Amino acid sequence: MGTSRMFRIFVVLGSAFMILLIIIYWDDVGASHFYLHTPVSPGPKVPHPPPQKRPQTSRAPSFLSDIDAFVNQFLEPGTGEPTDTAPLLTVNFPFLFLMEQQEQRRRLLQDMCANDSVVFPSKNRSFDDIPNKELDHLIVDDRHGIIYCYVPKVACSNWKRIMIVLSESLLQEGVPQRDPLAIPRDLVHNTSMHFTFNKFWKRYGKFARHLMKVKLKKYTKFLFVRDPFVRLISAYRNKFELPNEDFYRRFAQVMLRRYANQPTPPASVDEAFSVGIHPSFSHFIQYLLDPQTEKDMPFNEHWRQVYRLCHPCQIQYDFVGHLETAEEDAEHLLRLLRVDNVVEFPTSSRNLTASSWESDWFSTVPVEARRELYKLYEPDFRLFGYERPDSLLNE
Ligand SMILES: *[C@@H]1O[C@H](CO)[C@@H](O)[C@H](O)[C@H]1NC(C)=O
Ligand SMILES: *[C@@H]1O[C@H](CO)[C@@H](O)[C@H](O)[C@H]1NC(C)=O
Ligand SMILES: *[C@@H]1O[C@H](CO)[C@@H](O)[C@H](O)[C@H]1NC(C)=O
Ligand SMILES: *[C@@H]1O[C@H](CO)[C@@H](O)[C@H](O)[C@H]1NC(C)=O
Repeated sequence: MGTSRMFRIFVVLGSAFMILLIIIYWDDVGASHFYLHTPVSPGPKVPHPPPQKRPQTSRAPSFLSDIDAFVNQFLEPGTGEPTDTAPLLTVNFPFLFLMEQQEQRRRLLQDMCANDSVVFPSKNRSFDDIPNKELDHLIVDDRHGIIYCYVPKVACSNWKRIMIVLSESLLQEGVPQRDPLAIPRDLVHNTSMHFTFNKFWKRYGKFARHLMKVKLKKYTKFLFVRDPFVRLISAYRNKFELPNEDFYRRFAQVMLRRYANQPTPPASVDEAFSVGIHPSFSHFIQYLLDPQTEKDMPFNEHWRQVYRLCHPCQIQYDFVGHLETAEEDAEHLLRLLRVDNVVEFPTSSRNLTASSWESDWFSTVPVEARRELYKLYEPDFRLFGYERPDSLLNE
């Protein structure tokens, strides 16, 4: 009797002690056991360094260690002494070029975030001050240790498809779906398919923030961006030039009422299209510039600025892809993530909005409005290295 009571007391005390330890060392516990991500499949096509060679320190740019190791593999075949293998370097020039390009894009982000002459709302706040609902664009894949911030109108369907494949969350007859293009469109955009940061609260309670920070530190974070004005043209074409009941009711009717002298616009998008009524691109820009728009509700994600969707000054992205070079960037990224043997980026055959159409599209927009629009999107231009479209703004 006495022994079993002693034993019970021991168990209780021991458990309490363990819990205390876990609370105190949560960071280390979390970092070293719970979130270790191991690639599910064997090595990719490109030679990579063994994991233990990578530096353990902080958020060391793993790509830098990659590039070192990659170069070393050719420079130091076995001996560890550099040898003259210049031809090999030349062969791998595209790889080195893409590495350098990423380095530049990351450095630009850092510079712009540190530069006080680049000002935008909530630039100075800390990660802890970002409300949960503004973290809903960060998709987490624990299996491979990847975080993707999706930006609508920047190949986000395809990247969401890849995240679904990688997370193996979609089963097809009992086995994970491996073909990104086989995933139906409505499923791709169904939020229940993606584990996003704003869902952490539900799952992890008060540890949510802490876990997010651990994951942000350990995982590879990427996003894709494109020229902000071209993104707007693409959003307009996709949502208002094609019949879309949802966008018609939520936005097009508002634009028609406010800017097109249509106090009673047609009730449905089919009716409107059958009589040839839809808001013009100029109406759309007017809507974006109207202070009332943000008062009613925050910009819809299809035209919300990237700095508001992805918080690039609070989250240090490892990889910044550009839609303008989507294919080579995608190939490079999948290789860096070591999943290039698991999934391939789907090539797009759709009629992409081209930068060269910009002047045509904006020809109906008054120059003054273009300049205001530039101010609205200037942080995105500057953070991601897109040139100010002088020819549009200086007319
Ligand atoms: C900050 O940006 C301004 C342009 O807005 C530029 O002239 C200046 O050189 C930048 N400062 C630094 C430290 O990069
Ligand atoms: C952000 O902080 C800098 C100084 O660190 C300050 O000059 C700037 O006005 C602040 N910006 C905002 C929007 O609060
Ligand atoms: C998303 O998927 C869930 C279950 O997979 C389903 O219940 C829900 O209706 C879907 N939502 C939409 C908007 O399709
Ligand atoms: C793509 O769309 C634009 C306008 O929406 C049109 O002018 C162009 O002809 C289209 N191109 C192709 C190849 O379909």
